[in-house]
This record gives sequence, structure tokens and C-alpha cells, in this order.
Amino acid sequence: MIGTILLNIGLAGALAYLTLLYPSLRQTIKLRAHRSRLPPGPKAGKTGIAKPWVYFRQLSAQYGDVVYVPGLSSAGPTVVLGSARAAWDLLERRGAVYSSRPRFVVGGELLSDGLRGLMAPYGDFWRRWRKLLHSGFMQRRSASYRPIQRLESAVLARDILADPGGFRAHVERYAASVIMLVTYGRRVVDVARDEVVKQNIEAMGRLTSVNIPGKYAAERYPALKYIPAMFAPWKAEDKVARGVATPCFTTHLLEEQEALGMSDLELAYTAGSPFGAGIETTAGTLASFFLACVKFGHNFIPRAQEELDRVVGRDRLPTFEDMEELEYVRAIASETFRWRPVAVLGGTPHASTADDMYNGMFIPKGSTIIAPLWTIHLNERDFPEPHEFKPERFLEDRDFPGTLGHSAFGWGRRICPGMHLGAASVNLNIARTLWAFNVTPAKDETGQDIDVDIFAFTDGFNSSPLPFPCSILPRSPQHADVVRRTYEEAVAELKTFKDSPVEV
Ligand code: HEM
Repeated sequence: MIGTILLNIGLAGALAYLTLLYPSLRQTIKLRAHRSRLPPGPKAGKTGIAKPWVYFRQLSAQYGDVVYVPGLSSAGPTVVLGSARAAWDLLERRGAVYSSRPRFVVGGELLSDGLRGLMAPYGDFWRRWRKLLHSGFMQRRSASYRPIQRLESAVLARDILADPGGFRAHVERYAASVIMLVTYGRRVVDVARDEVVKQNIEAMGRLTSVNIPGKYAAERYPALKYIPAMFAPWKAEDKVARGVATPCFTTHLLEEQEALGMSDLELAYTAGSPFGAGIETTAGTLASFFLACVKFGHNFIPRAQEELDRVVGRDRLPTFEDMEELEYVRAIASETFRWRPVAVLGGTPHASTADDMYNGMFIPKGSTIIAPLWTIHLNERDFPEPHEFKPERFLEDRDFPGTLGHSAFGWGRRICPGMHLGAASVNLNIARTLWAFNVTPAKDETGQDIDVDIFAFTDGFNSSPLPFPCSILPRSPQHADVVRRTYEEAVAELKTFKDSPVEV
């Protein structure tokens, strides 16, 4: 009897010792205990799929709004959310538990030394980084960047007028230049040859393509090849200290650096954050808007142009001050964010930092939480006929969590800090495009409309339309004149900013 008790105590002790040593064993035991309460889902997740958001949507259709998927990541189990409500309840309302990130061993830790805030776990570094992003891009601060957006958007309208076939490249230049001006106070004049943009794209490419840990140990800081070079001269010139530097995100960072106790390296990475997160997202959203115009424009462009003519008239481009009154144009922007969300997986996954129960389901600590916008924005309960582009949805009263009527900027403590800047770019450029141009299907040799595929999108973390044909013509010679005149004025004003270095 005593022998059995001792044996049991010994076994229990050994088990406790083992679970202390091996967290994964602890995890397995816990999952076994809660197996019957885990959310429904497949036995094992599929990996290596080109468009994982399509797979996640199928899972949600099969299993429901909360799906448990083991084996998708080495970081732990994955939970896939399939409705705006579930995403809101967990990621927004229980933000204290669901605001971390899964471990990104290669991209986050090896390549970036844990200094990329976007991938950083919920903790001290992320908090300081986030504070800077927030103060640099909160609503009031973003409003101070509006002159930059207004001027660059005048350049964009003229670029499209002069070279409508290159509209995609023009939109990309716009988005890159706004981010460069806001961050460093420099303009991007030629997106294909710009040194900083090019090196940033390379660094981002390395970051998303890494899969062999160790292979890249020799080049641990790719982003830093250019960031300090960009801002070190400023420090040397002591412009900030003399108070004559163009106010931008970097000057803001330098002002805050001491109070937050950030190192130069941390600061340099923080300055780089808007590059990775703010260019492709803005440009991709605007590209989707053009695609929507080609496919569905006959349904919504006439009403938008009627509103623009009434509110703005025909003698000037729309401005930010008009947006309040341009209710239908704003609805078009919201529907663009909803219809083809560029952050198609809902951005970088979240991770949970405590065990939790939701609607009777057990969600273990350390789960990777994915809330794919491809599922959430195409959920027929919230958006009937989800692939149809219908701005009217945003003029009706709908039961949808949050204030935007969509979830394109994510949730809770990780919500996109650049949302005000990004939304302002998308709204203004949609207003100006519809004011100035008729965007219609291109014609083939026989004069027939060329149809476009509204599902032809890139693979990858951010998904945007593949190239498609499109006709963009000024609404009248008078509209074209206004675009040219506004451009001339904008170029004169933009002379106060230096151009970013271009490859020779
Ligand atoms: C129209 C454009 C944009 C869209 C659709 C978009 C969307 C998103 C989404 C869905 C997330 C993930 C949120 C989450 O994890 O819950 C995110 C995060 C982020 N975005 Fe944006 N974004 C846009 C523009 C920008 C801009 C202009 C900036 C520049 C300041 C920016 C900076 C960031 C950063 C730094 C994060 C990471 C936040 C964190 O991990 O705490 N974004 N964005």
C-alpha cells in the first residue's frame, strides 16, 4: 500500500518535473485534457498552398466561425476566425490576451534581431515601438500630413492623365512618395529607380522568402544598410537641434528618443516600419478600386460623379475639406476596403498569451490566431452577394462591430496605426479619380469591352490585382485642364522637399 502511494508520488513528481522541463509536453497534456472543448476543425492543416485565404474560407464554411487547426505552424495550434463578430470579440474586446504575435524565428529574430515591431511579441519593446507609431500617426498627427497627400495626389492625377496605361506604377509612386515624405521628408520621383524604395523592397523580399535559419546569419541587419544612411546625415547636420528639419516621423522619433530610452538601432527600425506596412497596402487598395471601376463602374460611377459635380463643381479638384459632404464617394472607398482587402489574411497573425474560453470552446495559450479578411469581408451574413461591389452597403444601417463597417485595418491593440493616413490617401484619390476621369473597360480590336477577372490577384502576404486592361479618359477637356493646372501648382510647392536619391 505504502509502496503504491510512494510509486504514485514518484510518478507524479517525475511528470511534474518533465512538464517543467518540456513546455511542449505540458501543452500536449493540457490539450488532451481539453480535447472535447477545443473548437471544431480538421485533424491536420494543409500547408504550402499558394492562396491560403481560399483554404481558410473553406475551413470556416465547413466548421464555423472558430476553427481549430493543428499542425499549421511549429509555434503551436492555429485558430482561424471566420466572422467579424468572432474577430471583434477576441482580438478587440479581449485584447489583453490576443495581442501578441507568434514567433518569427528567421524574419523576426534572426534577420531583424527582434527589432521589427510588426513581428514583435506583446511586451516592452513592442509597447515603446507602438507608442511611437501611435503618436506619429494618430488622427490629429495624420491630419498634419494632408498637405503632402494633397500635393502628391495632384501629381498622381496628372501622371494618370499623361500616361493612363501606367496607372498602376503611378499609384505605387504616389504611395511610396507619401510614405517617404512622411517618414524622412524626401520625395520619390521615380519609384523604379529610387535607391531607398529599391533597397526596402529587397529587404522585404528577403524577409518574406527566408526559410533556412542560419543561412542569413551573416547579414542580420538588411534594413540598416540604408536607414542610418538616410538619417545619419541629418543628425550630423544637426538640423533637428536647430529646429529647421522638415517635421516628419523621423524628427518626431528623434524628439521622443530620450524619453523612451530607445537605442539608435531601435529608432532606425521604427522609422522603417511605415515602408513595409504602408506602401503596398495603399497602392494595392487603389488598384482594386480601378478594377472595381472596370467591372462595376456602370453601377456606381454616375452617382459618384453627380455627387462630385454638386459638391465640388467643375473648376477644381476635390479636397479633404470636401470629403465630409462626399458621402457616396466615402462609401465607395469603404466598399473598396471591404471588397478586396489587401491584407487578405487580416495582416500578421495574432497570438494568445493565456488560456481562454469562447462560446464554450477552449483556446489554448500560445495559439496563433488568424482572422482572414477574405473570409470575414466575404461572409454572406454581413455582406450579401459579397463579390458584388455595392457602395450602398455603407449607407445603410448594418449590425457590424466597430465604427468603420469593415475590418480592413485589423483589431484591438494591434490595429493598423497608419489607418488614418492610409484611409485619407484612398479616399482623396478615389474622389479625384472619379472627379477627373471616366474609368471603363478597355476595348478590343473589334470595339468590344475586354472583361476583367475579379479573382486574378497576386499570391503572398498582401494580395493585390494582377495587371488588367483599363481605359482611363478625362471627363472633358475642362477637367483635363484643371488636372494640369493643379499639377503645376503642386510641383511648385513640392520644390520645398528634396528628392530621394535615385540610382544612377
Ligand atoms: C490602406 C492602407 C492600409 C491597410 C489596408 C492596412 C492594414 C493593416 C492591417 C490589417 C494590419 C494588421 C492589424 C492587426 O494585426 O490586427 C496593419 C498593421 C500595421 N500597419 Fe497598416 N494598413 C494600411 C496602411 C498603413 C500605413 C500607411 C502605415 C504607415 C504608418 C501602416 C502601418 C502599419 C503597422 C506599423 C502595422 C503593425 C502594427 C502592430 O503590429 O502593432 N499601415 N495594417
